[in-house]
Amino acid sequence: MRNKKIRKDLKTENELMEDLAKTEEIRMPSDLSKDKITQLIPFNMQGNKTHLLADSTGGAVLAAARKSDRVIDAFGGAGTYVHFLRACGVDKPMLLNEYDPFRYITHSQLKHNPLSVTYSLEDYVEELKGIVSHLEDGATFDEQAAAAQGAVVDFLQKEADRLVFPWQDFGHLSENGMPVSMINRPELAALYILIQCQKRMYRPVQADADPTGLKPVMNATETETVVNSGNKIKLFYHGKKFLFDAEDRIKAISQRLKDVEITREDGWKLIENNAGDGDFVLVDTSYLGKSTSNYNASTQEDSTPGIYLGKIKQYLVPALRRGARFLITNNWNDDVVRELKGLGFSVYKAFRKYGEPELVAMNFDKETGCIASDPKPKSINFIKVHFSSATVEWPTPQGVFNELNAEFGFTLDPCATHENAKCEKYFTMADDGLKQDWGKETVFMNPPYGRTIKNWMKKAYESSLGGATVVCLPPARTDTKWWHDYAMKGEIRLIKGRLKFGDSKSSAPFPSAIVIFRPPEQADVAMAA
Ligand SMILES: C[S@@+](CC[C@H](N)C(=O)[O-])C[C@H]1O[C@@H](n2cnc3c(N)ncnc32)[C@H](O)[C@@H]1O
Repeated sequence: MRNKKIRKDLKTENELMEDLAKTEEIRMPSDLSKDKITQLIPFNMQGNKTHLLADSTGGAVLAAARKSDRVIDAFGGAGTYVHFLRACGVDKPMLLNEYDPFRYITHSQLKHNPLSVTYSLEDYVEELKGIVSHLEDGATFDEQAAAAQGAVVDFLQKEADRLVFPWQDFGHLSENGMPVSMINRPELAALYILIQCQKRMYRPVQADADPTGLKPVMNATETETVVNSGNKIKLFYHGKKFLFDAEDRIKAISQRLKDVEITREDGWKLIENNAGDGDFVLVDTSYLGKSTSNYNASTQEDSTPGIYLGKIKQYLVPALRRGARFLITNNWNDDVVRELKGLGFSVYKAFRKYGEPELVAMNFDKETGCIASDPKPKSINFIKVHFSSATVEWPTPQGVFNELNAEFGFTLDPCATHENAKCEKYFTMADDGLKQDWGKETVFMNPPYGRTIKNWMKKAYESSLGGATVVCLPPARTDTKWWHDYAMKGEIRLIKGRLKFGDSKSSAPFPSAIVIFRPPEQADVAMAA
């Protein structure tokens, strides 16, 4: 029987892999080229989004925006979506939200004070030109050039520090990964544009604190103002076009932002509190995986798939239920793709400039922009896509749960999917219930019946020692080590006959038991009774 089950698990796993491999590539390019889109935005010149819009997602984004009453770019970054849509003639109300103060202030100054930003930028560029005026483009890179690199860095760093709001407790901010507050002035926007155009690799500069003030925003190896290129001096290596001729570009940016609402808050909470029917919400957070060191410390946590999925569940799903349209992009990640599919999203694969795959998830038809016929998260698929050789889902028969719930009053389901959770508080595979603290909750645990069941029984027993009451529904495998090591430490109620799990018409191929672990003081009382 065991062999048969393993074969069944493998089959499902293979099906899942095939399903992921079969993911359709999205080819809905925009009418605008990548270069044209890049020209629309104020910074992040090598933006990934410009490439994806031009090559893969532009048509779908446009279709959805046209079908919606309002567009919310919740993780605005360079504002690429907003500028793209306005440039394509979409005149719907729009909201551009960005949590990082440097970026938020830049957008808002560009909107309100374009001329002052232009003049400030021109002043800065003149300063830089002055610092490098004794150097000749193409000459041998010498000590003087190296010294000029240092002078550029000092200048930019001094300006950045000058624009930090005084009296902040930098140590505290830094310890808690919080951004510093910056002064909302046109110079700050100009400085941000300048740095973005003069920083190697175009890494977004974020207003992080370190204990001495603003985290050094520039360093000698990263300036593009004086570059050592094969031992030759190169001046203003990148971004020259923007810096030397900013006026028209900034004017156009400001016009496109004219009636765009610009906000600074946590994009996740913004979605939870504001998004609903008629809204088209763009979710382009800090990236999943390793490449997030360039983002603000306070938002970097989203790069962990479990945390990211937890936020999707907590903040995005309520808005999804209210009927909002979503387009989610991020680095490709199998687990995240599976979960998004389980929530009813269509997931496509796109490719970045250098070929890395990107997941593109949407809950609307990509051609028409119409919301899928059932805009609510689906309750199917989830179990299927959740399958892996280590995790076999056997959803608890509701009658069994109801009876136990009447007796115990459960507060936590640590082995759940969004669809089959038995309590308001629950953990999914993405949260990894095994890693969470079950505190003093009253827990209903129907563990995955794969190889990890021993870990779950151990966790259940150990959590009870810490004050939790844990009621488990494992298979009655009295010959296993985990049964002897853990189950037998609890109160065991063997179930007569075989349970019918989930929607299954037939009985399970194994007997089941209820195992109850109580906190030590209660266990004594239960024994005495
Ligand atoms: C990948 S970038 C966005 C790219 C954007 N679509 C563009 O084209 O520029 C992610 C942005 O989200 C911001 N961000 C990260 N976490 C956030 C949060 N919780 N709330 C609001 N903004 C956030 C980051 O500062 C960064 O600017």
